Amino acid sequence: MRERITPLFSEAQIRARILELGSQLTQDYAGKDLVVIGLLNGVFPFIADLVRAMELDFDVSFMQVTSYGGGMHSTGEVHILKDLDLSIQGRHALVVEDIVDTGLTLFKVGNLLKDREPQSLKICTLLDKPSRRKVQVPVDYVGFTIEDHFVVGYGLDLEGKLRNLPYVGVYHP
Ligand code: IMP
Ligand code: MG
Repeated sequence: MRERITPLFSEAQIRARILELGSQLTQDYAGKDLVVIGLLNGVFPFIADLVRAMELDFDVSFMQVTSYGGGMHSTGEVHILKDLDLSIQGRHALVVEDIVDTGLTLFKVGNLLKDREPQSLKICTLLDKPSRRKVQVPVDYVGFTIEDHFVVGYGLDLEGKLRNLPYVGVYHP
């Protein structure tokens, strides 16, 4: 699998960008009651590095939804496999995602979380592929905007594999 990957963002580039995002978030959420919500599975390396770049006190909780059948194409259906273990009512919620592609996942998750009446709801993603959008979702914090490539590594998978690569690369099928 690895021989089909060309590097896109190195470990050092990712680290530098996350430090920038972290200090931005530190400023924006100063003095606020924040819940950082990670969307499993792909977010795990990103959220681990991001929360450590934020010099604030906040809760971290996870949700798991399915959007892909395991291959390279979105099914457009989203099912909740694991829900949050805390309330976001009246609190500031920040959803952290590995990549926004069609936007369908975040559209669905966003509506579901809005029903729980957070004081604010924002989205932070490591990667954004705006050219693939099927529904408009407001993405508040973006690590990197990319072209329409299928990318792997640093949490992003191909059929469950390659999440453990320390960098992000383009997969050539
Ligand atoms: P969306 O619902 O189409 O925005 O897709 C969001 C989810 O699709 C992400 O959380 C990823 O799990 C997956 N995804 C989208 N694009 C890629 C990619 O290029 N590589 C790996 N996973 C992707
Ligand atoms: Mg995935």
